[in-house]
This record gives sequence, structure tokens and C-alpha cells, in this order.
Amino acid sequence: MDKQFVAIAIDGPSGAGKSTIAKLLAKELAFVYVDTGALYRTVGLAALRAGVDPKDAPAVEALLPTVQVELTYQDGTQKVLLNGEDVGDRIRTPEASMAASAVSAIPEVRRFLFHVQQDMALTHNVIMDGRDIGTVVLPDAQIKIFLSATAEDRAQRRYEELCQKGIATTYDEVLADMKQRDYNDSHRAAAPLRPAEDAVMIDTTGNTLEQSVELMKNLVKERLNGCCGK
Ligand code: DC
Repeated sequence: MDKQFVAIAIDGPSGAGKSTIAKLLAKELAFVYVDTGALYRTVGLAALRAGVDPKDAPAVEALLPTVQVELTYQDGTQKVLLNGEDVGDRIRTPEASMAASAVSAIPEVRRFLFHVQQDMALTHNVIMDGRDIGTVVLPDAQIKIFLSATAEDRAQRRYEELCQKGIATTYDEVLADMKQRDYNDSHRAAAPLRPAEDAVMIDTTGNTLEQSVELMKNLVKERLNGCCGK
């Protein structure tokens, strides 16, 4: 990887606050924030739209040549395009979440999205969040953080987010989905969710957003001062 750019990898289960915290930190540091979950969600959505079962690996693989996934940025906000269409909130529904979890277990899908992610880090200072950023996508990242929280805490946050977006669901449904996705993400053979050996572990259970951001900000500043002369 081109060492002139700094990479911060943030991994952890869904709902631990990765994206909210990473977005705020990216703004503060003037880094590009890359939400890699959005890429898997987009492939999941493409499968649903094509009437393909997201768990059917050969069918999803056959679909990939017709799928173009691009990341673009507008005023610092990431947009993900599926064959040129901004799929925005369409990738945030519970169905798209489940489809993302299913397609992310397919090695060919991971290979397909690997280069989109690496290209970003080769050309920008990035804060990238996902499940395998510190372990697979950016193993040379200068800072690696593994964010976690209890499933109940994460489900409550995700439930509130979905309600705010007007997506009809219940807390129990969100918790059950969260536990299922945790299981899928950490038990799959391809790049399972696990902390990198050199990751800093942070548990955000019970923290306010401000507390978690402050904690991470201090950690990042301390590390960047130490390693990059910033
Ligand atoms: O972060 P998220 O909830 O938007 O991610 C959606 C799904 O994509 C999640 O179930 C796990 C998968 N994913 C992955 O396997 N690797 C990544 N780097 C990011 C997400």
C-alpha cells in the first residue's frame, strides 16, 4: 500500500456505532469515510432485485458481471451507486441487511468488492469501517480499532435509527436480526468477523455517542502523533 496515505480501520459487529463515530472522526481529521457495509448491501439489493436468492452462491456469482458498484462523494458524504443509480436508503431496509449478510459470505463477492475498497485507500487518507478491514482489506492500516457492544445495546440503537427513518419494525425483530447477522458474520468461512491481532478493543456499551467519539478521537490523535508526524 502507498505509505503516503494514512488508513484507519474500524471493525466490529453491526450497531456498535462504527459508522456514526467514523463519520464524525473523518470530518474532524479531513479523511474520507468509507462505509464498506454499503457495498455488500448494494450487492445484496442487486440480488433481491434480480429475484436471486442471496444465499445461492452460484446464482449470485453469475449475477456479478451485470453489477456495477461505485462509491462517489458529494460534500464529504458517501454515495453508493448500483449500475449508476444512487441506492441510498434502499440498502438500509431489514431485507437488504439480511441479503447483505448472506452475499458477504460468498468469497467471489468479497473478491469483487476488495478492489473498490483498496483503491480508496491507495488514493486517499481513509477511515474505513467494516468486518475485515484490519484483517484482510487494509492489513497495513496505521490504526486498527475493534468496536463492540452488547447485542441488546446495539439493537436498541439500530431500532431507534430505523424508527427515525420511518422503517416499520419492532425492537424484538431488530434484536433477532442482529443476533442472526452476528452469528452469520462471525461464523462464515470467508473473512469472518474477528479483531486483528494489533487492533485496539473498545466496548461502547452504555456510552453516549459523545463519550465514544471522544475516546476514539484521543486514541487516533495519540497514534497519529506517534506514527505519522501529524
Ligand atoms: O455494516 P453493515 O451492517 O452495513 O454491513 C452489512 C453486512 O455486510 C453485514 O452483515 C456484514 C457485511 N460486511 C462484511 O462482511 N464485510 C465488511 N467489510 C462490511 C460489511
